[in-house]
Amino acid sequence: MNKILIASVDWVDTRFPLTKLWNEHLAQYYAPRNFNFWYYFGSLALLALVLQIATGIFLAVNYKPDAALAFASVEYIMRDVEFGWLIRYLHSTGASFFFIVIYLHMFRALMYGSYRKPRELLWIIGMFIYVCLMAESFLGYLLPWGQMSYWGAQVIISLFAALPIIGEDLAVWIRGDFVIADATLNRFFIYHVVLVPIILLALAAVHIIALHEVGSNNPDGIEIKKNKDPKTGIPIDGIPFHPYYSVKDIVGVSVFLIFFSAIVFYAPEFGGYFLEYNNFFPADPMKTPEHIAPLWYFTPFYAILRAVPDKLMGVAAMGGAIVVLFFLPWLDRSPVKSIRYKGLIFKFALFLFVIAFFGLCYLGMQAPTPMGTLLAQIFSVIYFAFFLLMPWYSKIDKTKPVPERVTH
Ligand code: HEM
Repeated sequence: MNKILIASVDWVDTRFPLTKLWNEHLAQYYAPRNFNFWYYFGSLALLALVLQIATGIFLAVNYKPDAALAFASVEYIMRDVEFGWLIRYLHSTGASFFFIVIYLHMFRALMYGSYRKPRELLWIIGMFIYVCLMAESFLGYLLPWGQMSYWGAQVIISLFAALPIIGEDLAVWIRGDFVIADATLNRFFIYHVVLVPIILLALAAVHIIALHEVGSNNPDGIEIKKNKDPKTGIPIDGIPFHPYYSVKDIVGVSVFLIFFSAIVFYAPEFGGYFLEYNNFFPADPMKTPEHIAPLWYFTPFYAILRAVPDKLMGVAAMGGAIVVLFFLPWLDRSPVKSIRYKGLIFKFALFLFVIAFFGLCYLGMQAPTPMGTLLAQIFSVIYFAFFLLMPWYSKIDKTKPVPERVTH
């Protein structure tokens, strides 16, 4: 049996670099030996991506991208299709979990300076993934054709109309009609199930290739490639990804699945945070809901939009809040990468940033009030100050000496 297996692998190897790829990316990819739990979220993001695509395919089997049929087809999936409810809840809960995982994954990079040289491009590719992920969930949210699907899309697409000169035409071009209609649903469906997933898969592959080119960062922010064994050329502080981290990642996957199944089976709507109540009513173009809010993962940016009184400036601020993230590798001027060796100023700035982000997330879900708007304005200023003042405060911050070798 073993002989047959070896012969088969040999046969493939002479025709396709199977063993070479396995070694390069797994068995001989040396990752720092001090990874902590923050390093689970990359593999979990991969799991979430695969889960969304797999469940999405089975949803598409029974879903009908037609304004007259879409809502009923989702109800049909929920009530009549065998395990349709499970597939739909896996997909809707999967979307929110994907964002939880991605936010934690990005926060890890922020803590350990993983976006710094030589990982700038890796970070930028990650940012493109993040933008595509937002597009993907926005497109998908229209598909159930509920009240929130309809009016949420209405609000977001009308933002494009705020752009000078081309705005109105651009909004019509996106919708394919003067209002959100069947034409909009059709195109959103095809972008959601084909176009954006292909881009996401390609970007995820490029992301891993870029990561393996430069090597992983770690909680100490030390470049392990700078300290290699002279005989073997292997980083002294590195261990093969497989089997060490492939096995460790199973722990992450198990814990993820426990939380994930708890939500899927016991609280799939999660109090209206993962599936909004208003979306259980079919879309009605004649009846605007009293309060329109996007799902939680968009609300920090929605709150920034609403914090600015002028619509065009609000759109610019919302866009700017995402664009500024792309420049992070060049905003951080600290001589050290990891928060472990950064000074109090950075730690305090990061603390304020986290408060502002959660604050905006909360305020974006609420109906606007004068007090809420004032708070959103303060949090928006903190959000931008964290990034725009970084070149200054990261330079004057008192850092600690970084050790030669990774620590435990
Ligand atoms: C589909 C989404 C994504 C997938 C599948 C993915 C996958 C991965 C994997 C497997 C790793 C290595 C393991 C780890 O470090 O946790 C990684 C590292 C990294 N990712 Fe992602 N990622 C995604 C999105 C993002 C986003 C949105 C960003 C940032 C904007 C990002 C930035 C990074 C950085 C900077 C690293 C290196 C971290 C380090 O070495 O300390 N990734 N990613």
